[in-house]
Amino acid sequence: MVKNRKIFKICVIGSGYVGLVAAACFSKLGNKVICVDKDRNKISSLKKGVVPNYEAGLDKLVKEGVKKKHLFFTSAVSEGVQKSDIIFIAVGTPSKDTGEADLSAIEDVARYIAGHLNSYKLIVEKSTVPVRTGKKIRETIKRYSKKGVEFDVASNPEFLREGRAVNDFLSPDRIVLGVESKRAENILKALYKPVKAPVLVTDINTAELIKHASNSFLAAKISFINSVSLICEETGSDIEKVALGMGMDKRIGREFLDAGIGFGGSCFPKDVSAFIQIAKKAGVEFRILEEVKKVNSGQKRHFVEKIKEELWTLKDKKIGVLGVSFKPDTDDIRDSPAVDIINMLLSEGTKIKVYDPKAVPKARKVLGGVTFCKDVYSTAKDADCIALLTEWEEFRKLDFKKLKSLMKYPFLADGRNFLDKNLMESLGFKYTGIGR
Ligand code: UGA
Repeated sequence: MVKNRKIFKICVIGSGYVGLVAAACFSKLGNKVICVDKDRNKISSLKKGVVPNYEAGLDKLVKEGVKKKHLFFTSAVSEGVQKSDIIFIAVGTPSKDTGEADLSAIEDVARYIAGHLNSYKLIVEKSTVPVRTGKKIRETIKRYSKKGVEFDVASNPEFLREGRAVNDFLSPDRIVLGVESKRAENILKALYKPVKAPVLVTDINTAELIKHASNSFLAAKISFINSVSLICEETGSDIEKVALGMGMDKRIGREFLDAGIGFGGSCFPKDVSAFIQIAKKAGVEFRILEEVKKVNSGQKRHFVEKIKEELWTLKDKKIGVLGVSFKPDTDDIRDSPAVDIINMLLSEGTKIKVYDPKAVPKARKVLGGVTFCKDVYSTAKDADCIALLTEWEEFRKLDFKKLKSLMKYPFLADGRNFLDKNLMESLGFKYTGIGR
């Protein structure tokens, strides 16, 4: 906690991947935070300090916050709203069939807030929302609240990555504040004062756009390098070196140039689709993003084809899958490319064993017809192929000689270019990666 600074009374509505991290981090900065969620089971676990997802450092922060009485949990929105000065909205904005974001949870929350406004509040969007949502929130609160109660609406998009969420929240590259009054700007600047990062103040629409544009740009970077990886495969070039060479140009940067089985997770796929729809509503055909999506789904099919090329037919072949979460250091399997690839392999009649250091409990709920293993070696036993689909650090430190001796045919399909190709080949594996 930072000394001699104002302690804010904060309410965070929605205790998912973003809301819970925000609540825990704001409490770590010394504020009084009430975290609200309509899921009563989740709230009663959180009250005991039990965090529903695996996120490094988060359970420690939650336990500390609860113990020091800086962090409270409730399923009553009224309590959260009435006892707080700043209200963050961090509820989900899932995709509709059209790709558009479903904003019904945001609207519900806006109406709840309106019904419980008892003094000036600053209402801040944290959820990723289409441009002009802030305006709708303001209109909704105005419509349903008692006349004369003052409030402001602001946008403060979140850029944290799962797996590094706490660190990203407390040490971000930038803080974006979309505001429409000096009062809101001053409150948010004071709240974020202990966080050392450049602050960009904009209007609300611009802040909302920054979030969608950033995620879509990063997704485009990944699809770009994945397209280049296909050229590398045809021409015998090495995508790793291409990425390195491109990334040495400061204007490009090496990050997010890792070719692989494509991006997944709860953000990029949803946000790219939503941004296409936002553009359409504004009369703009965002064709690049249509291609970004196509390239991304093509990568999964391409990877399955590469396995097929080596094993000839897939029916009854045994494949050991390493990693099922959408990326390492999280147990999140939402829109995970690994889940799609496993389903594609299953539809070809393969026998699949799966190991993941953290994601197995969640994977059990969505993957039928596979065997879950407790470690890498039991996954490899009698396998015709090991498919590495998530780059968990522990997969780098395996006893590869043992792994090879357990397999029926030592074929490594590395969907993340994670293993050292030359080393694997020198150990006698048949190795295939992406674009090399
Ligand atoms: C992403 C953004 O990076 C965050 O800035 C943003 O706040 C967040 O979405 C959000 O909107 O909430 P996240 O989804 O946690 O964060 O994960 P990333 O680390 O961005 O990875 C996304 C996907 O891209 C993963 O499947 C990852 O494996 C893949 N990826 C990433 C690649 O295939 N290649 C790369 O070079 C980088």
